[in-house]
Amino acid sequence: MTTQTLLLGQTFESFGNPLTGPWQDAVRINTSGGVLIENGRIARVADGDTLRRDHPQAAVQDYGAHLICPGFVDAHVHYPQTAIIASWGKQLIDWLNTYTFPEEIRLADPAYARMIAARYLDLALDHGTTTMCSYATIHPTSVDAFFEAAAERGMRTVAGKTCMDRNAPDGLRDTVQSAYDDSKTLLHRWHGTGRASYAITPRFSPTSTPDQLAALGALWAEHPDCLMQTHLSEQPDEITWVRGLFPEARDYLDTYEAHGLLGPRALFGHAIHLTPREVDRLAETGAAVVHCPTSNTFIGSGLMDLAGLAARRIPLGLATDTGGGSSFSMLRTMAAAYEIAQLRGTSLHPAQLIWLATTGSAQSLYLGDQIGTLAAGFEADLTILDLAATPAIAQRTANADTIWETVFPTLMMGDDRAIADVWVAGHKRPLRGGKAS
Ligand code: GUN
Ligand code: ZN
Repeated sequence: MTTQTLLLGQTFESFGNPLTGPWQDAVRINTSGGVLIENGRIARVADGDTLRRDHPQAAVQDYGAHLICPGFVDAHVHYPQTAIIASWGKQLIDWLNTYTFPEEIRLADPAYARMIAARYLDLALDHGTTTMCSYATIHPTSVDAFFEAAAERGMRTVAGKTCMDRNAPDGLRDTVQSAYDDSKTLLHRWHGTGRASYAITPRFSPTSTPDQLAALGALWAEHPDCLMQTHLSEQPDEITWVRGLFPEARDYLDTYEAHGLLGPRALFGHAIHLTPREVDRLAETGAAVVHCPTSNTFIGSGLMDLAGLAARRIPLGLATDTGGGSSFSMLRTMAAAYEIAQLRGTSLHPAQLIWLATTGSAQSLYLGDQIGTLAAGFEADLTILDLAATPAIAQRTANADTIWETVFPTLMMGDDRAIADVWVAGHKRPLRGGKAS
């Protein structure tokens, strides 16, 4: 007999894209909802009373006024940067050279990579993130370390070997051929293995020769079901550098397109300082942009035009960009996205913020039919939010008139303390090093 688990609480449900039409038509919260889990998947989402009546044999976990959400999906992280998060005082290129590259060299040691992968994934789960798309380092063993640690935890993840054959220090460069060969070996090993998917990963145009970009473009053409992730137009100095390195390119995006690295299943992190032509090309090709708001303020990159890109129907994901971002928390990330949008004259609704951190990110990773939504058939990765987790939040929600007014303070002021439980493929995960209750 299959065991069924019934979670009761307030359920976050989505039916469409709340950024391209009225959010009311796309998202709702059922304040007395329920999620029935069977064999690691969501079997039904309905009123709690209905589910109780129809499934009396199910084991019930009643979350009361907690919000049952799809597990958070972090669409752009660098797990190797876990130990250097919150490093002081540098902008992008200096930050890479001062903090990031020396740390990434340390992941040449497979034992260190395994330790950091485990640390990162446990931190992510503690913060309610059940899926992420991560860069590894140039070392193939750092990819194995990540996917093995994710498999141990039952998590759906995406990752790839970061490729760099120039403008990186000794010990952190590959070659055209080794980048191609190693990426190919890794994608054969991992893409579609368990819950893993592979992303071909040129770090960004300044650290790849045109030949390396072309080799990775060829590899993607051979394996078009893989994702391709990279960085785009994060800081003005970086863009000037790219112009000098690729004088024949029309713009930064063109350095990727000219080498076969633009199209559906491409993910461009940051994408802040875009030209109108770049926006047009992104919109025409179906590539996704990943918004990294805590990173964009922390490293001093700028204010991305989320509303403008959404209006062009460019698929959008949301991400911490650990460790350029200043937090592992997708709640902190939603708060930063809200604040940046405010500075640009748009007020993102809490429905839009949670959707971006779940369904939107999942869709940008082409996993939108497997995770990121509470609906029958989806994998049962769930994050349960306590909407009154701290005294500061509780005193605000005590005053709330509507469900969205109850939710919003947790998005603005919440962190890992708001994560009441996390379910991965239908199993409750122990949080904060403890035992699952
Ligand atoms: N651009 C190239 N590499 C990186 C990185 O590791 N982090 C960020 N934020 N931007 C980058
Ligand atoms: Zn990044």
